[in-house]
Amino acid sequence: MVIVVFALSATPALLLLRAIWELPYTHEGARLLAVSAAALPAYLVFAFALMVLSAFATRLVGWRTPADVTLRIADLDPPLLAWVRSMVVFHVVRILAGSMFRASPMWSFYLRLNGARLGRRVFVNSLAVTDHNLLEFGDDVIIGDGAHVAGHTVEDGFLKTARVRLGRGVTIGVGSVVGIGVEAGPGCRVGALSVVPKFTSLDADATYVGAPVRKLGAQAPARRTEPTGAGH
Ligand SMILES: CC(C)(COP(=O)(O)OP(=O)(O)OC[C@H]1O[C@@H](n2cnc3c(N)ncnc32)[C@H](O)[C@@H]1OP(=O)(O)O)[C@@H](O)C(=O)NCCC(=O)NCCS
Repeated sequence: MVIVVFALSATPALLLLRAIWELPYTHEGARLLAVSAAALPAYLVFAFALMVLSAFATRLVGWRTPADVTLRIADLDPPLLAWVRSMVVFHVVRILAGSMFRASPMWSFYLRLNGARLGRRVFVNSLAVTDHNLLEFGDDVIIGDGAHVAGHTVEDGFLKTARVRLGRGVTIGVGSVVGIGVEAGPGCRVGALSVVPKFTSLDADATYVGAPVRKLGAQAPARRTEPTGAGH
């Protein structure tokens, strides 16, 4: 499936290059120059097509992160394999398209197509945001460069998954790690290089920093509400 999607995504870009190659030129050097100049736009066309087609294809075949599960990796159950396949496809997309489109509205558009529930004006400047179908972000959420926000974790040979919910206006600082099951109230800020442990609830309009995070102005660590049965 990955190869078919790759080939379909490359087709418009290659057609574009061929059309430019076949234009009438008075000099061969001009032909070479024209095709060279079209290489970058053609690559962008390919990368965008890859984002769109891969999202539709994975939807079609049901390659998704299963919600709220604890699965032994060694068992290789079908939901686990669906997760692995979705991660492989996303890995290809983030390598070939992510570095050009991240932090742009096109990247948010791709995340939505891939199952994320995002509000308006959401900007994700990180390629370490995964398990899109388990993400729910309100309007004006900002994810900083290199922040890790995922709906899965792998611990002790088990895959564990849970939704991540960030309210309106939440900022996740550069290089931070947000664990599974985290819920952040509207207007909450997580400082750069901070760690929000799994199943932590962050208060609205509060600022959290550190590893693990503590609320600025409060002595106690952030609240955690790990569901019973989430461990093993
Ligand atoms: C957390 C943050 C929002 C706080 O900003 P602020 O409200 O202006 O607070 P201050 O800079 O005055 O810092 C308040 C305290 O928190 C500490 N602090 C700030 N950021 C911190 C961080 N990332 N980790 C640990 N401590 C931090 C400061 O040292 C200060 O401590 P003190 O009171 O003991 O002196 C900001 O420091 C930050 O990390 N922003 C990240 C922005 C970002 O990455 N955006 C992503 C898109 S670009």
